[in-house]
Amino acid sequence: METESFMTDVLDACRSSDVPAISCETGDFLAGLVRGHGSRDTLEIGTAHGYSTLRLAHAIGENGRILTIEFSRPSYEAAREYFARSGLSGRIEAVFADALVHLQAMPTNRTFDSVFVDGEKRRTVEFLDAVWPRIRPGGWIAVDDAIKFRWKMDGLDGWLANHACEYCTVRTDPDDGVLVIFPKK
Ligand SMILES: C[S@@+](CC[C@H](N)C(=O)[O-])C[C@H]1O[C@@H](n2cnc3c(N)ncnc32)[C@H](O)[C@@H]1O
Repeated sequence: METESFMTDVLDACRSSDVPAISCETGDFLAGLVRGHGSRDTLEIGTAHGYSTLRLAHAIGENGRILTIEFSRPSYEAAREYFARSGLSGRIEAVFADALVHLQAMPTNRTFDSVFVDGEKRRTVEFLDAVWPRIRPGGWIAVDDAIKFRWKMDGLDGWLANHACEYCTVRTDPDDGVLVIFPKK
């Protein structure tokens, strides 16, 4: 319960300082996906101040691990402070890097049960290409802002058509929603 109220405080702080963060409802949806699929190893592209990371870290349970990647130094530092205070830092590996560069350099055998893509919207297809080989059978990829900013996600329809997957867009709050991709592996 303490962790939950801390996460709410982090979201409130993001909202009051105009730091982007998923909505509480989107957090609930992602937490449900994680729990429903028994996800453990999770990857996130785009930490910002870490609200979504905390929601995912909480949902994956004490045996889960989340790697989150952020390329803004101030955001990375702010998120690290929140992680240290959250009681969940043991589950979180925060990396300061361009996600595309970091993923390219990572050993190919580092794979994930679930991936949350929430970086620069115009690079969504590049992120999907980078994470596709790292998704384990039965895993999933979620892409945030899939309604409001779908127009920025150049090439997404073609990408979906060219990859063996099922997908759906779910409106998670009145403002926006999440695209969830289930690779057929
Ligand atoms: C929408 S915000 C993330 C919000 C966060 N997921 C949350 O809900 O609390 C997007 C973040 O992605 C970061 N970002 C964008 N492109 C990136 C990249 N290629 N590599 C790492 N971080 C990136 C931005 O600096 C920004 O902080």
